[in-house]
Amino acid sequence: VIETRPVIEVDFQPVGKRVHVRQDTSVLQAAIEAGLGITSACGAHGSCGKCRVVILSGETNLPTANEKRIGLQDGERLACHTLLRSDARIFIPPSSLLGQQRLQTDSSLAQSPVDPVVRSFDLEISAPTLTDLRADLQRITDELRSNHNVAVGMVDIPTACHVSRLARHHNWRFRVFVRGDEIVGAAPTGTPPVGMAVDLGTTKIAAYLLDLETGRELAAAGALNPQIAYGEDVISRLNVADRQEDGTRLLAHAVRETLSELLANLTEAAGIDSGQVADCCIVGNTAMTHLLLELPIRQLVRTPYVAAVSSAQDIKVRQIGLQTAPGAYVHILPCIGGFVGADHVAMILAVDMDRVDQVTLGIDIGTNTEILLAHPERGFMGSVSCASGPAFEGAHIANGMRAAPGAIEAVSIVGPHMHVDTVDDAPPIGLCGSGVVDAMAALHKEGAMNRSGRLDADHPWVTTQSGVREVILTAADKSGTGRDITLSQEDINQILLAKGAIRAGLEILLKAAQIEPDAVREIIFAGAFGSFLNINNALTIGLFPRYRNAIFRQVGNAAAVGAKQALLSHAVRLRARQLAAETKYVELSTFPTFNRYFALGMLLPDENESQR
Ligand code: FES
Repeated sequence: VIETRPVIEVDFQPVGKRVHVRQDTSVLQAAIEAGLGITSACGAHGSCGKCRVVILSGETNLPTANEKRIGLQDGERLACHTLLRSDARIFIPPSSLLGQQRLQTDSSLAQSPVDPVVRSFDLEISAPTLTDLRADLQRITDELRSNHNVAVGMVDIPTACHVSRLARHHNWRFRVFVRGDEIVGAAPTGTPPVGMAVDLGTTKIAAYLLDLETGRELAAAGALNPQIAYGEDVISRLNVADRQEDGTRLLAHAVRETLSELLANLTEAAGIDSGQVADCCIVGNTAMTHLLLELPIRQLVRTPYVAAVSSAQDIKVRQIGLQTAPGAYVHILPCIGGFVGADHVAMILAVDMDRVDQVTLGIDIGTNTEILLAHPERGFMGSVSCASGPAFEGAHIANGMRAAPGAIEAVSIVGPHMHVDTVDDAPPIGLCGSGVVDAMAALHKEGAMNRSGRLDADHPWVTTQSGVREVILTAADKSGTGRDITLSQEDINQILLAKGAIRAGLEILLKAAQIEPDAVREIIFAGAFGSFLNINNALTIGLFPRYRNAIFRQVGNAAAVGAKQALLSHAVRLRARQLAAETKYVELSTFPTFNRYFALGMLLPDENESQR
């Protein structure tokens, strides 16, 4: 097909980024091509209203029915529904821009065994002569066998080419990287092999470069998952992959490109050559790993929601387009169930949930909230996945946003004053998950809501706009948008739905294990949201029950820690395999009591319960 549409220039402000695209490209697509992230919670369906932009100049299509329904302000358009007809200048307001989100790459690695799957051997081999005509590779494998007791059975062609050139370049004194019985790379003598560990989150990607000999972290980098442009939650993205021609490839390509950039940044920061990267380990939820590997995803969006592949995978890194040692592999940890993925397995490894000596719950709150229950006495480990939705990440909340500068992250009411704290102390432009929880807790304590979360129209904090009850957290004159930053009744309902899902998951998991709530001794919160969450406020709104004998621990990005541990240790990978096989996946929808628990879980605690 010959493309006949003329090329136009689009200038994005305030970032000052220009891009050339074909006429009739959507603003959202143009932004993606410019490498800019615009929030698109609904996967470009025109229903979330998160992708608002202002057309400063240029011709476009007329506003669509969806845009009219959403009720945009003067000059605003939805990036996903606006088609560009000519050169244009577009303003992306901060609330629509995904650029500077707080990315959690801080994940300290506790004492962890270092027994990597890749080992290195310094070789000194005699050069070929007319009386010793062995091939290059033969000389190397002979040397490994006779002087290092290593039997090599495999070397692929790209690696053989690299090793042969490097050996000759260094006069046959060099180092090889060996994985099992395979040579995967080579480097000058004494060069340590390094590895990359990745936590491939639905929203964020955190990547780390580690020395495979010492376990030392050399560099860390984070990026937004570029698939966000195709939908904020896993289901929207899986639907794009399922329905759009070449959709899976498109999503895979997007994330592979970002991984490639992250790896380049890491090697540059650590001052090493990409050929030293001899191993990788990636963890992510089942959808993320399926999309990365271009595995079939249709069955993930249809009941009974099963993975195409749940076992651990080892594939050549070059298959996903990364520049490493030529024969290096990437290891993907196994998953437990359709929506309990390798990231959950990594979290279990990181906090040693499979080795606890008391009844422990591990909770990772996200679009899907995964909960693990370990009962060591009974030898029981069980997991559930609750569809809590992206509300805690700011999606489906009218003024919601991620934890970027200007996001309200903490709210309290003291006397007649509402106090808000924002990320980086920037003027408020929206509120992120922890801000929503805090705001609800403060309003609940003030008696501004009933147990069903219904705002009391007569309460002094509550106002009514166009028939919708809401609470103004920051007035227009103090906000960074010139508009009130509010928490509406609809926002509260979204959080209650998420809360209902989490509470139902907890109830059913305990029931499935026949464990009384009082037996729970520790609750571990992992993940970005769980780390920033004010636990007392979460308890005030009953996001979790008050287990009488339990203590709480917030552990940060545990999935990333698990990924590093698995990168550094063969034994940890074996442990991951075993615990994934032994953990019982509890499917919530098969429990007839699910709906009742869900409905009860949506209720706010009564006063006594909140204070207890
Ligand atoms: S309205 Fe444009 S992405 Fe949702």
